[in-house]
Amino acid sequence: MSNSHRPKDSREIVATTPGVPATDGDGVRMTRVIGSPELNMLDPFLLLDAFESDQPQDYIGGFPSHPHRGFETVTYLLAGRMRHKDNAGNEGVIEPGGVQWMTAGRGIVHSEMPEQENGLLMGFQLWVNLPARAKMSAPGYQEFSPAETPLEVRDNGAEIRVIAGTTDEGTTGAVKNEFVHPTYLDVSLPAGQSFSQQVDPSDNAFLFVIDGELETGARNTPLGRRTLGILGEGGSVEARTAAGARFLLVSAQPLNEPVARGGPFVMNTKEEIIKAFEDYRHNRF
Ligand code: CO
Repeated sequence: MSNSHRPKDSREIVATTPGVPATDGDGVRMTRVIGSPELNMLDPFLLLDAFESDQPQDYIGGFPSHPHRGFETVTYLLAGRMRHKDNAGNEGVIEPGGVQWMTAGRGIVHSEMPEQENGLLMGFQLWVNLPARAKMSAPGYQEFSPAETPLEVRDNGAEIRVIAGTTDEGTTGAVKNEFVHPTYLDVSLPAGQSFSQQVDPSDNAFLFVIDGELETGARNTPLGRRTLGILGEGGSVEARTAAGARFLLVSAQPLNEPVARGGPFVMNTKEEIIKAFEDYRHNRF
């Protein structure tokens, strides 16, 4: 533990949600953890979908061609493979431990399809809002294979896949963000071990338990499998596990701007949403 470690400043879980079952794309079944009636958003995070199924009928339809405008989509896989293609000529396959960070900006039309006909597909899609000044910026992609995504191994056996941001031990993710600068960590913690990470006190932050169970904060609040915990105020995140656990830690500065949603478009006003649908209908993406 570093000298800057201050348990009294550790964030406590202030609310939890398991998300709600949802269907999107061409019949893909998932759990909508953020963007649901239970948790509409956690500024700047607009949506978090968790996929986990070994039943092909739950995912085989994928997400055929569809548009986005006004935010970023982050696809991170734990198992299985997804192929994406877009109208700017980009194409690639996302693999477990790899990440695709797409800045939709003023508009992109893409498809996201399973690159498998059976077996387990497991992962996440996170939507990160863009500030008003960047919503109509040029679209962009950042894609990193598992080998290009830094994996930090700590003395206590903890393994941290760093998708974005910097850990307390100095490992920095491969993704470089221009507008919003989230921290996005995938932490695997062996039985009996603990994890600590400084976070900016003004960030919004959450944990999502992929497997096992955590105890968090100075109060040892438990957080169970497939559950999201919103973290309250503080300068650090502390987590422990008795039997081993894997979880996401995600945080970022809130934008504190008005949010207008229209399906695959997220803007600041209703007029901008109507404009987005018009632009898409007239092939201006
Ligand atoms: Co999409």
